[in-house]
Amino acid sequence: MAVPFIEPFRIKIVEPIKMTDKAERIKILNKAKNNLFKVPAEDVFIDLLTDSGTNAMSDQQWAAIMVADESYAGAKSYYKFEKAINDILGFPYVLPTHQGRAAEGMLFGSLVKPGQYVTNNRHFDTTQANVKEIGANPIDFSVVEAEDSSIELPFKGNMDIDKLEEFINEVGPENIPIGMLTITNNSAAGQPVSMDNIRETADIYHKYGILFFIDACRFAENAWFIKKRDKKNADKSIRDIVLEIFSYADGCTMSAKKDAIVNIGGFIALRDEELKRKISQKLIIHEGFITYGGLSGRAMEAIAQGLYEGIDEKYLDYRESHTRYLGQVLEDSGMKVYKPTGGHAVYVDAGKTIPHIPQGQFPAVALANMIYLEGGVRTVEIGSLMFGYKDPVNRDEVSAKHELLRFAVPRRVYTRNHLDYVGEVAKNIMVKADSIRGLKITWEPQLLRHFLADLEWV
Ligand SMILES: Cc1ncc(COP(=O)(O)O)c(C=O)c1O
Repeated sequence: MAVPFIEPFRIKIVEPIKMTDKAERIKILNKAKNNLFKVPAEDVFIDLLTDSGTNAMSDQQWAAIMVADESYAGAKSYYKFEKAINDILGFPYVLPTHQGRAAEGMLFGSLVKPGQYVTNNRHFDTTQANVKEIGANPIDFSVVEAEDSSIELPFKGNMDIDKLEEFINEVGPENIPIGMLTITNNSAAGQPVSMDNIRETADIYHKYGILFFIDACRFAENAWFIKKRDKKNADKSIRDIVLEIFSYADGCTMSAKKDAIVNIGGFIALRDEELKRKISQKLIIHEGFITYGGLSGRAMEAIAQGLYEGIDEKYLDYRESHTRYLGQVLEDSGMKVYKPTGGHAVYVDAGKTIPHIPQGQFPAVALANMIYLEGGVRTVEIGSLMFGYKDPVNRDEVSAKHELLRFAVPRRVYTRNHLDYVGEVAKNIMVKADSIRGLKITWEPQLLRHFLADLEWV
């Protein structure tokens, strides 16, 4: 039967969503100073701002919540959480955190000193900010193919191994306390990293005595792409692929809000007990005791169950097809879609879709705002508002590498009809694409400006 994908679940609880009219949306966006982060969620019809924490939990997850143990120390729910991570990722030591950025903060805060470097294929915004807050330097080495949104290659999220090694030799390995690798590479259009590249990255870090940590938010989607796109791994189970991925690393930071299919939570997983002790100090001060780290027993139960659901092959097959379908409807609308489509989101190359808007006028924000005004669909810019900055000396705007617009897909939330609706909205926008104007910033904070900045149409 030729259907583009089929949901391996049925719907048991529904949440009404509200359609506003265009006149209302103009007022709402004005009030939000043209920044979609500041629009109340109830004024959004289809919310594709993020796949983080926006997932629909299963009946099994809700059932697990009902039997959660909320003890302060040594709760049963912590041991269930720890066991799931031991079992799936293969790390013996686990520290819970309230979400991914807290895991990053605890790890970097315990091991990185001002002036040092943290390398990555590409840091995500909060990871980058956590390194900068210490006074250290986040450095990225994505492969050059990631810069080209039109080439179809299987693993555009890879690390450029030669550049990484060159850099290690240039600054000295003693100045790089942690080397990271983000799977999938969210800032590079959600592209996966190959098993070979994960192993080679580990080999380089370990050759120079650098600790290797994986930013593991979307490890299950990355494992799925390894199985589908690399013949050498086609016959392996997702469980085996996941275990192999993490076998190369000394640890990982995880935002459970992604592939553990929950609404909140995170953790650090480690191989070395001494390292666990070191990070525990900071964790107790900032997050909580080592068996809850800012999470309720309920949250740990949901994560333990969700980790197993997130590596289910039928679910991952649906997940990839569902996101790819959205890529297809957006491409059909005339938007220039980043190729190939990632696992958790479709990225539209706004720089190419509306080329008349200069980079300094944030084309992806302009496109995002027009899509919201047209149909109440919320997306997010991954471009110069997020990754650009004002040069501290001459105050000139320094632009990002890409002006991408991300349509992130919450897990198990939207149906095919919802995706078709997004496609219709995109089509309506493309008809009048030439008339879209750019934006300028009227106020911005020092770090992570995209969350809070005020903007004005040019
Ligand atoms: C690659 C990556 N790392 C880290 C994070 C931070 O996780 P959290 O939002 O749970 O703090 C995110 C969140 O979007 C992410 O995509």
